[in-house]
Amino acid sequence: MTTSNETSKVVLVTGGSRGIGRSIAINAAKRGLGVILTYNSQPESGQAVADEINNAGGKAIALHLDAGKPASFDEFAKQISAVLHEEWGRDNFDYLVNNAGIAQRSLIQDTTEEIFDQLVNVNLKGVFFLSQKLIPLIVDGGQIINISSGLARFAFPGTAVYGALKAGLEGLTRYFAKEYAARKIRVNSVAPGAIDTEFGGGKGDEEHRQQIAAAAAIGRLGVADDIGLFVTSMLSDDSRFVNAQRIEVGGGIMI
Ligand SMILES: NC(=O)c1ccc[n+]([C@@H]2O[C@H](COP(=O)([O-])OP(=O)(O)OC[C@H]3O[C@@H](n4cnc5c(N)ncnc54)[C@H](OP(=O)(O)O)[C@@H]3O)[C@@H](O)[C@H]2O)c1
Repeated sequence: MTTSNETSKVVLVTGGSRGIGRSIAINAAKRGLGVILTYNSQPESGQAVADEINNAGGKAIALHLDAGKPASFDEFAKQISAVLHEEWGRDNFDYLVNNAGIAQRSLIQDTTEEIFDQLVNVNLKGVFFLSQKLIPLIVDGGQIINISSGLARFAFPGTAVYGALKAGLEGLTRYFAKEYAARKIRVNSVAPGAIDTEFGGGKGDEEHRQQIAAAAAIGRLGVADDIGLFVTSMLSDDSRFVNAQRIEVGGGIMI
């Protein structure tokens, strides 16, 4: 049952327009949270998720964010403040889910400086500075969840920079938890296994999909809701003593 107190909580999900982020946004709304979700290149997908939530009786707003452009984050933070005030009558929010990310599909020998820099900007630098800018707007006792990857733990050809950056993100998770402990802001990372989304162009042909599925003890590819349901289960005080952790949600992949 949703209480009025739960209804007033608000989550901001970056990359909430598609895939895993979409599932997090929709499942958060089902749990009674207000949702601010962001899109980058596909505004219509972002608006479609917000419409789906609003039509189902929840409350959601879709905003543009390029997570690889820290120079825009001051303006984005102002927009968040305005939306919180106008839509929820608040000047802060409860949960930040840093989900937006881009994939790598290049062996080390083929990885250019441009590819490297794009990956750094969206998957690590952007998360650092967006969190830094938004933390003043997060309530004391709130939570940040960074979406990492199983590839932070095991190596897979063609994803060296991506995997290293997700490992870096898990390191940042612990540092943020340490430095914002005085405000009781918990910071955790959730590391999905292989999830069947459009990420990096999808999981390829049937043979490749079966190989990836076989790498998980549970014997299948994940779906976006496998992650969305778990992440949203953490967005409450039920997880109140979980802090600075890496939690892998991958069906037992590469064990
Ligand atoms: N799928 C997997 O197997 C898997 C496994 C482990 C971890 N992950 C992680 O899970 C997260 C979500 O992945 P997904 O599978 O849901 O990917 P997806 O289906 O490709 O969706 C990516 C989302 O991120 C947004 N986005 C992309 N570039 C952005 C940018 N520069 N700035 C802001 N938003 C941007 C997209 O918005 P637009 O469409 O509007 O551009 C979209 O909403 C990522 O961090 C990824 O690393 C995925």
